[in-house]
Amino acid sequence: MNDLTPRKIVEELDKYVVGQNDAKRAVAIAVRNRWRRRNVEPDMRDEVAPKNIILIGPTGVGKTEIARRLSNLTGAPFLKIEASKYTEVGYVGRDVESMIRDLVEVSVNRVRSRERKRVQKNAAKKAQELLLDLLLPRPDFPPDEGEAVPLRESHERSREKMRAKLAAGGLAGREVELTVERQSNPMVQIFSGSGIEHMGFDMQSLFDRIAPTRGAERKVTVEEARRILTQQEADRLLDREKITRQGLEEAQESGIIFIDELDKVAVKAGTGSGHGPDVSREGVQRDMLPIVEGTTVATRHGTVETDHILFIAAGAFHMAKPSDLIPELQGRFPIRVELSALDKQDFVRIMVEPKNALTKQYRALLATEGVKIKFRKDAIEALADISETVNQKTQNIGARRLYTVFEKLLEDLLFEAPDIAPTSVTVTANYVKEKLSNIAADEDLNKYIL
Ligand SMILES: Nc1ncnc2c1ncn2[C@@H]1O[C@H](COP(=O)(O)OP(=O)(O)OP(=O)(O)O)[C@@H](O)[C@H]1O
Ligand SMILES: [Mg+2]
Repeated sequence: MNDLTPRKIVEELDKYVVGQNDAKRAVAIAVRNRWRRRNVEPDMRDEVAPKNIILIGPTGVGKTEIARRLSNLTGAPFLKIEASKYTEVGYVGRDVESMIRDLVEVSVNRVRSRERKRVQKNAAKKAQELLLDLLLPRPDFPPDEGEAVPLRESHERSREKMRAKLAAGGLAGREVELTVERQSNPMVQIFSGSGIEHMGFDMQSLFDRIAPTRGAERKVTVEEARRILTQQEADRLLDREKITRQGLEEAQESGIIFIDELDKVAVKAGTGSGHGPDVSREGVQRDMLPIVEGTTVATRHGTVETDHILFIAAGAFHMAKPSDLIPELQGRFPIRVELSALDKQDFVRIMVEPKNALTKQYRALLATEGVKIKFRKDAIEALADISETVNQKTQNIGARRLYTVFEKLLEDLLFEAPDIAPTSVTVTANYVKEKLSNIAADEDLNKYIL
């Protein structure tokens, strides 16, 4: 974290997101500020208010993309939610605190799959031995040591032979009988989502005490048995307590919650009727306040403090403005950045520059078929032109337009690739015209197709 300076963060974001420099700078500062706040003396720390961000801008210009890349970059647990999905406490619907529980869930799952990877090798080794036991059950050795020795030795020899066969894949189709442990108590599934899971206790262990889960005998192929046994052994090697503890800690110390559509819960000044949906939207904002300021939330894994969670909000703010949010909430989102609409030149860059640029994605996809595809510069220009025109004529969906345009452009090629391979194809402005111009020119058609 120490070396993740704002400059470094922006550099990394540049690899994926074109332009939007103000927004990149702002999120970089916000991430750094959180680290700074954690490092000031405790007395002062409580005085420093969290500096969360509102990203303002039209659809498809990189708001979510920036936040998502930021979380990858910082290795932080990340949750994206829509503000408009929540309802005020006391009304039917999801309450705002549930976003914290969801973040913890994400975080614990991340730690678990990381741990699972770590124990995978050991689990596979253990599973191998268990599998050999199934294929070649140990005989009951006589109690007298002297008599048991030759039996034991012969069993060991057979076992080694079996091991060699197994390694060579000779037994893949053979069936074995296996006790499959249940993944989780069915009672947990019944009650999960009912709301009681966040009351601060672990349902799994509660129900396990009421009605212990029992394994079921199943006949499965050797391959399937290996998979099941590896999984069961991995589960056994996992330190649940540590996973929970670490998951909670990561959520608390470095979690990022991306609140999309924040503008949808703002009430435009002068239009508030004082009741109905306006009141409820304001209620959501009020419920959000303590969470953003720092409070303690009970989750089924334990309690978390929300003080250091970074909140990045986003919205188009066409109708309502940030100033239409309740004042206290405005104060907790002091950093405002506007993202600019993308122009033709941005489209050109988005198609070729980012690590995951569309031209690179399709090149990789088609290469698997033995088709080499090249995009000429004039083709990229033409595609940018068409995307911009369609955005203007129908609905402006920003860079998302490039996805539909590309798919249509390459539809024929994606269909025939296996039949024409190996070959190379160069996409030129003419190629683009041929595939797209009659669609792009027809307003009715491009509403449906592009
Ligand atoms: N500036 C950009 N650089 C590179 N790719 C971009 C950029 N803007 C958008 N994209 C591409 O378009 C897609 C949609 O962008 P994104 O999800 O960030 O939109 P958004 O601004 O969050 O819009 P919305 O308000 O609709 O949620 C991204 O997945 C990304 O591939
Ligand atoms: Mg978005």
